[in-house]
Amino acid sequence: MKDRIVLAYSGGLDTSVAIGWIADATGAEVVAVAVDVGQGGEDMETIRQRALGCGAVEAYVADARDEFANEYCMPTLKANGLYQGHYPLVSAISRPVIVKHLVKAAREFGATTVAHGCTGKGNDQVRFEVGIQTLGPDLKCIAPVRDLALTRDKAIAYAEEKQLPIVTTKKNPYSIDQNVWGRAVETGYLEDIWNAPTKDIYDYTQTPEFPPAPDEVTITFVQGVPTALDGVELTPLQVIQELNRRAGAQGVGRIDVVEDRLVGIKSREIYEAPGAMALITAHKHLEDITIEREHARFKATVGQRWSELVYDGQWFSPLKRALDTFIEDSQQYVSGDIRMVLHGGTAVVNGRRSDTSLYDFSLATYDTGDTFDQSSAKGFIDLWGMSSKVASSRDQRVAGE
Ligand code: ARG
Repeated sequence: MKDRIVLAYSGGLDTSVAIGWIADATGAEVVAVAVDVGQGGEDMETIRQRALGCGAVEAYVADARDEFANEYCMPTLKANGLYQGHYPLVSAISRPVIVKHLVKAAREFGATTVAHGCTGKGNDQVRFEVGIQTLGPDLKCIAPVRDLALTRDKAIAYAEEKQLPIVTTKKNPYSIDQNVWGRAVETGYLEDIWNAPTKDIYDYTQTPEFPPAPDEVTITFVQGVPTALDGVELTPLQVIQELNRRAGAQGVGRIDVVEDRLVGIKSREIYEAPGAMALITAHKHLEDITIEREHARFKATVGQRWSELVYDGQWFSPLKRALDTFIEDSQQYVSGDIRMVLHGGTAVVNGRRSDTSLYDFSLATYDTGDTFDQSSAKGFIDLWGMSSKVASSRDQRVAGE
């Protein structure tokens, strides 16, 4: 029996050509696996048929939309996961779920190797291969674009020569990756970091300069997970989809950054993540009233470290798992409602309520009903400033000597 290779298949030019390219180079049979993480666009059955048309011996579509929303997007929300304070980890969190399905398919179809279409310059190759090594240590990895010299020009020439059922003429200058948590656009004109993104780059968001009327939404959370919008119960996937639509219409969640890739390159990225950014904003505001101060401060640093690990391809690592436990525990009381207004590129919170809130009106108020004992403040301040005061008098003494 011929050796089998499972290929992470997107339906695009590179991975379509990779099917024959890998088979020619290795003599193996190629099984194409497409994972639906809510990327939208083309119908998954069309993509499956294209893989077969390009020479795959088997082609398989995994519907991972709910799994992705529940087990990847929700932990990212609980962590308020933003790499370098900006990027909601859109591609970084989709790789581990795709890896799970690739390894599963390798077992089902008796493959010894897993292939992906990444280049040698990005983070995604690392995420795929570290994930595969972790979940299937016996499996080998190949990357035809990186390891078998499959350049874009060669891909177009190959597709035309073999008459593959794929459009090769429409040259999209950008490298795009998208799923329900958001969309990432890079390369081309954007590589000059002074160039402002043009309108055609965006798909999930409308231009915020000319917004429709403000849209007020109430998001209900139970232990850090959104469970309803405006009182209508929804699954996490439905919440994200609905907020992509409503916040997207207002141009919320456009991000333009230069970020540090794991491989040492700084790269310009345009992201749009309307649902994710609206949810992270709402979630943070609910944490503000339900998590105790020191716990919240420490959680912010945990969330940052968590985001770096996830960005760096360490989704399945012991440290990431340990931080998950901390973050999960922190969500025990993060339940309640957040009201926010989506308008003209912003998502602004204007109301919050929770049965497990730590906000104490009688401590906070400056009006009647105040229970805060102001006389305790003076002694507190004397002790709080004591060590700095002692150090400062030493500094002044030494400076005067
Ligand atoms: N820079 C982002 C990341 O590393 C997005 C990568 C998007 N991938 C792509 N093939 N366009 O997570």
